[in-house]
Amino acid sequence: MKKKITILDLQKMKCSGEKITMLTCYDYPTARIMDECGIDALLVGDSVGVTVSGYDNTLPVTMDDIIYHSRAVARAKPKSLLVADMPFLSYQTDLREARLNAGRLVKDGGAEAVKLEGGENMADCIKAIVDMDVPVMAHIGLTPQSIHRMGGYRVQGKSETAGEKLLADAIAVQNAGAFSVVLEGIPRNLGRMITSELSIPTIGIGAGDFCDGQVLVIHDILGLCEKYSPKFVKKYADVKTVISDAVSRYAAEVKAGAFPTEEHSFS
Ligand code: KIV
Repeated sequence: MKKKITILDLQKMKCSGEKITMLTCYDYPTARIMDECGIDALLVGDSVGVTVSGYDNTLPVTMDDIIYHSRAVARAKPKSLLVADMPFLSYQTDLREARLNAGRLVKDGGAEAVKLEGGENMADCIKAIVDMDVPVMAHIGLTPQSIHRMGGYRVQGKSETAGEKLLADAIAVQNAGAFSVVLEGIPRNLGRMITSELSIPTIGIGAGDFCDGQVLVIHDILGLCEKYSPKFVKKYADVKTVISDAVSRYAAEVKAGAFPTEEHSFS
């Protein structure tokens, strides 16, 4: 039987060169499938606000939203590491609140680690959470909660100065005790440089092939999210067409009186 994956296993994977797989996951049935497929880490991302709840960005997502989805994923008892996102305003205002909210994600949401956005500016926050033994995955580069500062979802770290700043951010989160860091929307070579400078694993999303692992949003790889289609997304299936086909056939059969038949009725 496959054994439970912990943060120590992700570290071992970096050291041995085995790539780490992570996907976003927001519900029980998908968690079961992903776990059966051997995905190393499931991320209850605040992208749930866009993919599932239909918001324009991740800013409206609340702690209760993440806890609700994290609980559903945890009920699948995945062997995969369960990481839950800290939503906007759950950690930026003060350290006590950050610790309380990180603790809630573990205690009420069943998460085994939390993820938060920010580099040097969040080092104190990361340290405060790690000090109470909650593992933290950091997230730097294109950080969706900073959409208004960035002026949209733009590739980060393109200039030499911006690249150096991102390297400093990566080192700061590592020194603060993060067990891993997501690198989002940065040039491939910067992803390579940061990955080789850090001793903790890097998980890339639009950060090239040199990262220690990769993460994507499940709705994107299944072809279920039409709002944004970033260059880094690879569509592995067209589930929208599968759903449309099933829904259309069901509706047509009900209208025509072809469903239900005796087979689907009680005698
Ligand atoms: O919320 C999310 O889905 C994320 C990933 C894109 C890394 O933060």
